[in-house]
Amino acid sequence: MSNSSTNHRFTHQSRNIIAITIAAIVFACGTLLTTATADEKAEALHDFVGAKKCKMCHKSKQAGSQYSIWLDSKHSKAFETLASEDGLKAAKEAGVEDPQKSGKCLKCHSTAYNFTETMATNIAVKKSTGKARLTVEESVGCESCHFAGGDYKKKKIMKDHDLAVSKGLNPEPKKMCLNCHNDESPFWDTTRYKLADGKTAGFDFDQAWDKIKHLRPKATDTK
Ligand code: HEC
Ligand code: HEC
Ligand code: HEC
Ligand code: HEC
Repeated sequence: MSNSSTNHRFTHQSRNIIAITIAAIVFACGTLLTTATADEKAEALHDFVGAKKCKMCHKSKQAGSQYSIWLDSKHSKAFETLASEDGLKAAKEAGVEDPQKSGKCLKCHSTAYNFTETMATNIAVKKSTGKARLTVEESVGCESCHFAGGDYKKKKIMKDHDLAVSKGLNPEPKKMCLNCHNDESPFWDTTRYKLADGKTAGFDFDQAWDKIKHLRPKATDTK
C-alpha cells in the first residue's frame, strides 16, 4: 500500500517536473522572442525622405515657415560650402582630395551620411524615377536633427507627439548640435560666441538656436 502510494506520488511528482520544465522552456522561448523583437525594434531603420517631403506641411506661415527658415540658414548650404575657396583649402589641409565626396567632411555637412563617413542605406527611393529622395546636396536637412521621417511624416502621426516619437521622431533635437558643432570642425573657433559672463565659446546653444529657430507661431520659445 505504502509502496504504491509512494509510486503514485513519484509519478505525480515527475509529471509536475515535466510540466514545470515545459513551462520553463516556453517561458525561456518567450523571453528570447521578446528580446529579439525589442532588439529588432531598436535597430529598425526608418527611411530618410528628404526636406522636400516635410515642406508640404511645414512651409506656410501658420505652420511656422520651418522650410523657408531652414532654406535661409547656413545648414541648407553646407554641401555647397565644401567647394568654396575656404572649403577646398581646409580639405587640402586635411588630406582630402574632394570634400564634396569625402565622408570626412560629409559626416557633418550632409544628412545623407547620418554622422558617419559613409552614405546611409536607409534612404527612401522615389518610385516613379528610382532616384533617392535624400542626396548629399540637401546639406544639413530637417532629418539631421529630427531623425529619419519615413515613418512619422503622416499627419495623423505627427499630431500625436508620443506616437511620432515611437515612429522615429527625435524627442530631443536640441541635443544634436554638438555632434557637429565641436572641435573636429576645421573652422572651430573658440571665440565665435561671446557669452554673458565675458568668456567666449565655439558654440552656445541659446545664441545659435536664436539664428535658426523655427517654432510654430503659437508655441512659446522654449529654447
Ligand atoms: C502631412 C503633413 C506633414 C508632413 C509631411 C510632415 N509633418 Fe511634421 N507635423 C505635421 C503636423 C500637423 C504637426 C503638428 C502640428 C501641431 O500640432 O500644431 C507636425 C509636427 C512636427 C514637429 C513637432 C512634433 C513634436 O511633437 O514635437 C516636428 C519636429 C516635425 N513636425 C517635423 C517634421 C519633419 C522633419 C518632417 C519631414 C521628415 C515632417 N515633419 C513632415 C505635419 C506634417
Ligand atoms: C565635426 C563636424 C565637422 C566636420 C568633420 C567638418 N566640418 Fe566643416 N563645419 C562644421 C561646422 C559646425 C561649421 C560651422 C563653423 C563652426 O562652428 O566650426 C563648419 C564650417 C565649415 C566651413 C565654413 C567656414 C566659415 O568660416 O564659414 C567650411 C568651408 C567647412 N566647414 C569645410 C569643411 C571641410 C572641407 C571638411 C572636411 C575636411 C569639414 N568642413 C569637416 C562642422 C564640420
Ligand atoms: C539643426 C537642427 C535642426 C534642423 C536642421 C531642423 N530643425 Fe526643427 N527643430 C530643431 C530644434 C532644436 C527644435 C526645438 C525643439 C524644442 O523646442 O524642444 C525644432 C523644432 C521644430 C518644430 C516644432 C516647433 C514647435 O513650435 O514646437 C518643427 C515643426 C520643426 N522643427 C520642423 C523642422 C523642419 C520641417 C525642418 C526642415 C525644413 C527642420 N525642423 C530643421 C532642430 C532642427
Ligand atoms: C549634421 C551636422 C550639424 C548639426 C546636427 C547641427 N549643425 Fe549647425 N552647422 C553645421 C555646419 C556644417 C554648419 C556650417 C555650414 C556652412 O557654413 O555652410 C553649421 C552652421 C550653423 C550656424 C551658423 C554658424 C554659426 O555658428 O553662427 C548656426 C547658428 C548653427 N549651425 C546652429 C545649429 C544648432 C542650434 C544646432 C542644433 C539644434 C545645429 N546647428 C546642429 C552642421 C550641423
